[in-house]
Amino acid sequence: MSAPLDAYWMPFTANRQFKQAPRLVARADGMHFWTPEGRQILDGVAGLWCVNAGHARPRIVQAIQQQAAELDFAPPFNMGHPKAFELAERLVELTPPGLDKVFYTNSGSESVETALKMALAYHRVRGDGARTRLIGRERGYHGVNFGGISVGGMVGNRKMFGHLLAGVDHLRHTHDPVRNAFSIGQPAHGAELADDLERMVALHDASTIAAVIVEPVAGSTGVLIPPKGYLQRLRQICDRHDILLIFDEVITGFGRIGTPFAAQRFGVVPDLMTVAKGLTNGCVPMGAVFATRAVHDTFMNGPEHLIEFFHGYTYSGHPLACAAALGTLDTYAEEGLLTRAAELEGFFGEALRSLRDLPHVIDIRHIGLVGGIELAPIEGQPTQRAFKVFLDCWERGVLVRTTGDTVALSPPLIIDKQHIEQIIEVLAGAIRRAA
Ligand SMILES: Cc1ncc(COP(=O)(O)O)c(C=O)c1O
Repeated sequence: MSAPLDAYWMPFTANRQFKQAPRLVARADGMHFWTPEGRQILDGVAGLWCVNAGHARPRIVQAIQQQAAELDFAPPFNMGHPKAFELAERLVELTPPGLDKVFYTNSGSESVETALKMALAYHRVRGDGARTRLIGRERGYHGVNFGGISVGGMVGNRKMFGHLLAGVDHLRHTHDPVRNAFSIGQPAHGAELADDLERMVALHDASTIAAVIVEPVAGSTGVLIPPKGYLQRLRQICDRHDILLIFDEVITGFGRIGTPFAAQRFGVVPDLMTVAKGLTNGCVPMGAVFATRAVHDTFMNGPEHLIEFFHGYTYSGHPLACAAALGTLDTYAEEGLLTRAAELEGFFGEALRSLRDLPHVIDIRHIGLVGGIELAPIEGQPTQRAFKVFLDCWERGVLVRTTGDTVALSPPLIIDKQHIEQIIEVLAGAIRRAA
């Protein structure tokens, strides 16, 4: 008999609705989940944008099993264990040049908090402590902790929680369906929106601004792809004013858009870069912040016996997480997964665009192996049309994700063309039925 559903208060879920008609998964392998009743579900979203190598991959499973038996925990403060160092060395081989220091966390939200604190402390240790202002962007998602929701730009995540961090401002988002609907890859219009940062400098003065944080591709607010030239322009303005640029690559990291990190695809190197999710293939919670040597070395100037950065978590660099991440990196390397999205991008994009003429489809956006299909909302019931599509797909054995009235796809990078066809066929039917 299955357990009662009462006690568990579920995250980001309509609890009462869910418990009337629960959607449970009990097992997973490769591209699929199975429900407790044995129904097979094709995973169109890599769990939650994280299972990039697919489910239950043997190298990762074995690495975790062996690690649990060998060293279950190691204190991370003033102590270490070999795999934490080995992993850091392996990771910085994949990052864009210059981002060669790694600080471990346990989630994307923690990575964001860590990066924001690093940015503030960096300016302070270099004697520029008036730089306390953080700049985010409308429609940004940076997790759910106080720093992240402050720089984030999703009203639902912000409005219940008081005044949040002081001194935060937001760039406008880059979503422009009037000029850019149905773009293939990066939209043509909107690079000039980066100039918002110059407006903030004019308003607040650069000497008060510590950092700007953006997702190179905004995932959780509906797959918003940066206009051509936008990120380059943001980088130039940051350089002009000594403002740190933080890329939140929690979704785009580890191959999602065809390069190991979005920074490489767009040719823009940030000063700090946050990751999580695909770092361990979603198997053990883990996140990280990559910092440039310049940022890191700025902290290394005080007395050598003193802690340089007063920050860290009991589970930073947890042995199980490090083992899972090493198994994940091996899997990515052996199967060429960090560039596979580039190979499939053409086929995936064309398949998505075949949905263009279906009822209520108002935009389709895609890059690498991430896509968003935006639907016109049902009048007076925003989000409900996409949610109907989600439920319909689930009933027909495909897991998609919705955010607002956008249906998002971010399948495991091991996906093959037949799986893409299956997802699109089921989605097409569901969109027709949600008319
Ligand atoms: C860009 C971005 N940053 C941060 C987070 C938060 O990650 P976590 O849920 O692991 O805290 C997410 C989660 O989806 C994300 O997409």
